[in-house]
Amino acid sequence: MAKNIQIAIDGPAGAGKSTIAKIVAEKLGYTYIDTGAMYRAVTYKALCTGIQLEDAQALEKMLRATEIRLQPSQEGQLVFVDGENVSAPIRSNEVTANVSQVAAYANIREILVAMQQQLAEQGGVVMDGRDIGTHVLPNAELKIFMSASVEERARRRQLDNEKRGIPSSIESLIEEIALRDKKDSEREASPLIQAEDAMYLDTTQLSIDAAAEAILKLAKEKIA
Ligand code: DC
Repeated sequence: MAKNIQIAIDGPAGAGKSTIAKIVAEKLGYTYIDTGAMYRAVTYKALCTGIQLEDAQALEKMLRATEIRLQPSQEGQLVFVDGENVSAPIRSNEVTANVSQVAAYANIREILVAMQQQLAEQGGVVMDGRDIGTHVLPNAELKIFMSASVEERARRRQLDNEKRGIPSSIESLIEEIALRDKKDSEREASPLIQAEDAMYLDTTQLSIDAAAEAILKLAKEKIA
């Protein structure tokens, strides 16, 4: 019988992780788990309820009384906060601009990491984030660290925004992405770094299908 392995995909924003992870999961019949959406969900609820993002204790109290549910669907992973579908609003510019601050708190990470580990317990998952290979699933059978140039990632984000009717300038996106990379890589709690046993995949010049194929090939070797 085929093994249900854990696949960890880490890397900075805009590297193509979620698009590629989704394809890999679908082709393998695995569950796709976008952990960034969980940090976004916490940020979104805090912004909606007026909880100060500087107050890590208040955020923790809020999170402990919050139900975050991830639900696979035809359109990808849906995110529910206390029963409300927040899949679209957690992608707003306001949440994007504030999520790094929330994701830097060790107490918030501890709670979300425990949830992520539980979701991946049975294997058969493709999980994307920043610390999956280093911290959440250190024993994952396959670890990928995916990146692309800042310019290319900004261009992708701009296309994404266009599709959602959000105007944005490439210069400000480059600045915003570089700042978020810096915050995510320099924070004390589980910074964004490549796991020693992760394979590096640069998607600057790679199509989505080619990147997914490369990962699927490696995954099938591990599953066999
Ligand atoms: O992948 P994303 O842009 O949706 O992630 C949102 C934020 O959450 C980003 O600033 C990095 C952070 N994050 C994290 O610290 N750890 C993860 N496992 C996933 C995301």
